Amino acid sequence: MDYPKKILLFGATGSIGTYITEELVKSSSNFDRIGIFTSRSTVESKGDLTQGLKDKGVNIIVGDIKNENDVAAAYQDFDTVVSAVGRGAIVEQIELIRLAEESGTIKWFFPSEYGTDIEYGPESASEKPHQGKLKVRAYFDSSVKRMSHTYLVTGPYPEFYIRSVPGLPNVGGFDVKKKEAVLLGDGEGKVSFTAMPDVGKLLVAALLSPEASQNKALKVNSFTATPKEILAEFEKQTGASWKASYVPLEKLKREEEKSWKEGSPSATSFTLKRIWTEGGTLYEKRDNDLIKPVELKTLEQVVQEGLANA
Ligand SMILES: NC(=O)c1ccc[n+]([C@@H]2O[C@H](COP(=O)([O-])OP(=O)(O)OC[C@H]3O[C@@H](n4cnc5c(N)ncnc54)[C@H](OP(=O)(O)O)[C@@H]3O)[C@@H](O)[C@H]2O)c1
Repeated sequence: MDYPKKILLFGATGSIGTYITEELVKSSSNFDRIGIFTSRSTVESKGDLTQGLKDKGVNIIVGDIKNENDVAAAYQDFDTVVSAVGRGAIVEQIELIRLAEESGTIKWFFPSEYGTDIEYGPESASEKPHQGKLKVRAYFDSSVKRMSHTYLVTGPYPEFYIRSVPGLPNVGGFDVKKKEAVLLGDGEGKVSFTAMPDVGKLLVAALLSPEASQNKALKVNSFTATPKEILAEFEKQTGASWKASYVPLEKLKREEEKSWKEGSPSATSFTLKRIWTEGGTLYEKRDNDLIKPVELKTLEQVVQEGLANA
């Protein structure tokens, strides 16, 4: 296979894109070219980051993802696209995919996923936060004939899951300063996580294992833990007993409904937390073993880092 050799990233400087770009740069000896397509405003606001990437040999292509000419021109020098655009640009990827299919050069496209399995079960079809990503997958099914795709399904990032959100206790979290935890459900439901640096490592492993990872939702994870196990790890590492309270599933559902009704920006968080609490991240088997092996983070390490960053 003569690709993937030339990788173009969208959303490379975003929350998860940063980790993906970092891992790609670390394994750049496997590739002939790594480039990022980014907006002028990002180059201006994150000048140090983009200059740092440039110094490491990354091509910085400045353009507008809504401008057909900018995108089509960028595609000419690459064979694979990795998109990590934010939620606000998920549906805009359909145009990026159409242009990639027409390009003749792009052979493999990773749309922005890196989260909850949007086709976990029949109920997934009506989950509000999944609608944009479902449209993207439907476009691949209906209109893409030439290019391969991979949907990297990672479940939640534990770094976000353990954070408590000021003013939003019912979304759950672990408050390091107060040594207080709000556990979702009965605290005993397993949730499967992928740590943010591992998303980058697993994506690179997927790129280096095309036969195993193409044309599917590749379901990967770092570790699985219950809210009570996370709390126990915080207590162990702080050497203290924490105050714990619970948001039972029914209460979580009421909060979810209320926040969608009010048009609250937290509505998506409530829905995703509810899906995770209901077991929507669990599988009999993972696809980690199908791709190149990588060393993954443990719950212990994530809690250690959570304490260090608090
Ligand atoms: N598993 C989890 O727990 C979890 C958590 C958060 C996010 N995610 C998923 O990860 C993916 C990336 O999300 P993110 O939070 O990392 O992205 P983000 O930081 O919000 O945005 C990433 C980049 O997307 C580009 N972009 C262009 N137009 C945009 C628009 N209209 N709205 C938002 N971004 C735009 C921007 O880059 P340029 O300026 O360079 O174009 C931006 O820096 C999404 O699919 C999201 O659902 C998963």
